[in-house]
Amino acid sequence: MAMRIVIPRSAFALVATVAALGGCGGSAAPQLSHDELTDPQTCKTCHPTQYQDWSGSMHAYATDDPVFQAMNQRAQVGTFCVTCHAPMAVRENLTDGTNLAAIAPPMRGITCYFCHSIESVTGTHNDPLVLATDDGLFGPFADPVAGSPHRVGYSRLLDGTTTDSATACGSCHDIQNLQGAHVERTFQEWQATTLSVPPAGESCAECHMVGSPGAVSTTTPTKIRRVHNHGFPAVDLAIGDFPVADPQNDIAPQNTAQQTQAQAFLDTTVQSTLCLNPQTNRLQLTLDNVAAAGHSWPSGATPDRRVWVELTAYQGGTVIYASGNTMPVAGFPSALPLEDASPDPDLWLIRDCLFDGSGKQITLFWEAASIGPSNQLPGLLIQNVNDPSTYQTHMMKEYPDAGRSATLPATPDHVTVQLHLQAIGDDVLASLVASGDLDAAIPPQIARYQIGGGGTLDWTPTSATVFHAPDAATGAVMTCVTSGSYKSNTTLTTSHATCAP
Ligand code: HEC
Ligand code: HEC
Ligand code: HEC
Ligand code: HEC
Ligand code: HEC
Repeated sequence: MAMRIVIPRSAFALVATVAALGGCGGSAAPQLSHDELTDPQTCKTCHPTQYQDWSGSMHAYATDDPVFQAMNQRAQVGTFCVTCHAPMAVRENLTDGTNLAAIAPPMRGITCYFCHSIESVTGTHNDPLVLATDDGLFGPFADPVAGSPHRVGYSRLLDGTTTDSATACGSCHDIQNLQGAHVERTFQEWQATTLSVPPAGESCAECHMVGSPGAVSTTTPTKIRRVHNHGFPAVDLAIGDFPVADPQNDIAPQNTAQQTQAQAFLDTTVQSTLCLNPQTNRLQLTLDNVAAAGHSWPSGATPDRRVWVELTAYQGGTVIYASGNTMPVAGFPSALPLEDASPDPDLWLIRDCLFDGSGKQITLFWEAASIGPSNQLPGLLIQNVNDPSTYQTHMMKEYPDAGRSATLPATPDHVTVQLHLQAIGDDVLASLVASGDLDAAIPPQIARYQIGGGGTLDWTPTSATVFHAPDAATGAVMTCVTSGSYKSNTTLTTSHATCAP
């Protein structure tokens, strides 16, 4: 590594430095060396906000994530995993996938340089990104202010207002494992939604990189543009403080911020509607993927994610029916384990199931030969209230399940619904601990959410003011509560249990 040049913070001093170096930005030769450009610490001087956000993101943490390290060690698949989790270390020939501890901090995670030097995208999955070879950086502005110590140029791939930018994010957010099983499909899902269609489409960045007015560089304080959040909160959380090397030590731990932002994002993702059908004496729960409409929900690491519904019905304060409970409720089976083996016959569990070549269900995504039929909540296929496929973001299930003859034992006077998400299933974590690849102290620290907002409902005869149109099957008028503004759709309903084939 070359010594990092010290760049003064004040604009006045910078002009002097740049002049001394003989550069003037724009197309001039970059004044920062390749080693300096590839180190996020260099960028922090002038782009402290982007640096601060990024340093508390899963992109910065992608090589350090202890579950990643455990899986990578167990998988023994060469550079397959680090191609995305330490992409700069792979491009610079610094890793064969086994020496993660030896990778220097500037090369860990998905760095500023990696994303900002993307020149072209040559495929749809497994990181087929081509980087510029002349150390040129790309960004969203066609009129960069002169004076930056690096080359800059506009690229649609780095401009969140274009759907083209989604091809850059998407080609990493889509994994086919070495057996060809499509284990993560976020980009394919996005391509299938109406949000992939310009001009009305929405890129990944439009939802995941919220913009606000601000100066792009501390050296250009009067040039106010739209700057974008680089924190990418979603589901996974760092375990312990983010380890981003920070010699100046002026970035506080960002764990609380990451957790708060992920929780807030999840709370607005789903809307739910619960109806009592007095004729069948069953409850109908509809979950609607409203905010993650650019892909299914959950998306990405769905073989590891566990989303489930906890529903409890009462009469006079006594529980008359319960499903999805992980704490004991007398008289009702526990939902645990959150797998097909769950003793809860009505459990609504959203996950992807994996199978080996002989069709046997397995736990670890890189070993899969095929993937079961998905029961994710789909994204928005078409936006037209007259078209039934608009409602495919809605998934409905009956309690007790329609596949059983059981009905509620009595008419409830109170029903609660709570949506849960655990980032990685207990079965996956237990397998990694058992093989000695994961420290047993990690599993209890894996992100677990009770999804608030649209993920909770409280039905009582008085709160159920939405009187539903007649239920198509029975003609009954149902009493419903909804966390959203839409009326539960009765034409296109799918009942989902687990994803067993
Ligand atoms: C000495 C200050 C300085 C440093 C260090 C610096 N930049 Fe910049 N950068 C600038 C200035 C000035 C601009 C232009 C701001 C504007 O046009 O509003 C800029 C613009 C950008 C843009 C937007 C370009 C566009 O046209 O959209 C990106 C992306 C960028 N820098 C990335 C980086 C990265 C990555 C690093 C670290 C390798 C880095 N910068 C280091 C000063 C700096
Ligand atoms: C995962 C890819 C990715 C990483 C990693 C990344 N950026 Fe960006 N960055 C983007 C995208 C995409 C945009 C444009 C967003 C838009 O237009 O909606 C952007 C925009 C910018 C801009 C223009 C101003 C703004 O905020 O929009 C600067 C400057 C910048 N990034 C600097 C950095 C620095 C510095 C780092 C590392 C600390 C970094 N970026 C890491 C993808 C990335
Ligand atoms: C080099 C491949 C790569 C590129 C390019 C990339 N990502 Fe990522 N991204 C990852 C990896 C790997 C992780 C997960 C790190 C971990 O959890 O260990 C991740 C994590 C995320 C997360 C957090 C997921 C969670 O559940 O917590 C979001 C959101 C995200 N990326 C969005 C984007 C967007 C938007 C872009 C484009 C601007 C982008 N990514 C570009 C590889 C990439
Ligand atoms: C219409 C807005 C929207 C668009 C467009 C969008 N997302 Fe998302 N995304 C969301 C929301 C909302 C969530 C769920 C919130 C959460 O997970 O915290 C989410 C979740 C995610 C997650 C975490 C998934 C999980 O369950 O582990 C990743 C990764 C992600 N998005 C990546 C992408 C990528 C890559 C693209 C583009 C190909 C994209 N998103 C497009 C809104 C969007
Ligand atoms: C094509 C790029 C790519 C490859 C190859 C890849 N990952 Fe990832 N990985 C991602 C992205 C993107 C995410 C974020 C997905 C999400 O948040 O839902 C992720 C998330 C993760 C996570 C956190 C979420 C979870 O699943 O628990 C772990 C751990 C992980 N990857 C391990 C691995 C291992 C081990 C390998 C190799 C067997 C691997 N990855 C290969 C892109 C990749």
